[in-house]
Amino acid sequence: MYLINHLNYSFYLSKYIFSGLSVLVLDVMWKNLTRSQFVCWIEWEGERFEFKDAPSYSEKNWGEAFPKKWFWVQCNVFEGASGGVALTAAGGVRKLLGPEVFENPALIGVHYDGDFYEFAPWNGVLNWEIAPWGSWYMSAENETHLVQLEVTTKDLGTILRAPSEEAGLAPASKHTGAGVLKLQMWERKHDGSKGKLVLEVTSDMAEAGVGGGPWLYTWKGKTFLPKFYRSALQLTFDLDSIFRWFPLLERFRPPGF
Ligand SMILES: *[C@@H]1O[C@H](CO)[C@@H](O)[C@H](O)[C@H]1NC(C)=O
Repeated sequence: MYLINHLNYSFYLSKYIFSGLSVLVLDVMWKNLTRSQFVCWIEWEGERFEFKDAPSYSEKNWGEAFPKKWFWVQCNVFEGASGGVALTAAGGVRKLLGPEVFENPALIGVHYDGDFYEFAPWNGVLNWEIAPWGSWYMSAENETHLVQLEVTTKDLGTILRAPSEEAGLAPASKHTGAGVLKLQMWERKHDGSKGKLVLEVTSDMAEAGVGGGPWLYTWKGKTFLPKFYRSALQLTFDLDSIFRWFPLLERFRPPGF
């Protein structure tokens, strides 16, 4: 089950990271990613596995191949909050598509108690520090909010296949479903420092992974988006306008959008 969910999930991210367009698709789609408990079955090589009330996560992905290098964190089983919480966070090295639209795309999305908190290159700045294995740290901020997440695991990880440009479906990613996660979000004070704590939750069932490479060292990164693009993107949230701004992206438009 984890395997299947994760393949799906990763395909989705690949689309985001690699075209820049899918951040917008993601924004549309991740309203569906709140905590859910499925009753479902999966058939694998003729054998049927049934699940009831299992914490689950599923999504749909588009794209041709994964990015060169990426990381992701997803969790929807938390302790510390009464309302439903779901976290999706990811980043990667995007393939260049003519003129730079985004550099080092990354995002953090938090659903909490019916609200959606989104930190993405067009509305804030994201930082990350990701070890080759075992430790994921991300933070993000905009003018009014700060968010921070940390995942660690002693799990050795499971190798998963991912679509690559060079070698087709290749064993290019490693993931765990047993990450120990702490997620915190604050409102900022006027001087920019941490103010009111909006959310503080933990989990020992976080999904986390790294993919592509090379992963020789801890990867420290930060998003950057020129002001011009930021204001353009903020104003034009519907996809049609985005395609008018960036016609090159049209070929990455998924069916149905
Ligand atoms: C900062 O991000 C939070 C979470 O998405 C959002 O509620 C808030 O409106 C954002 N602030 C600004 C100034 O955009």
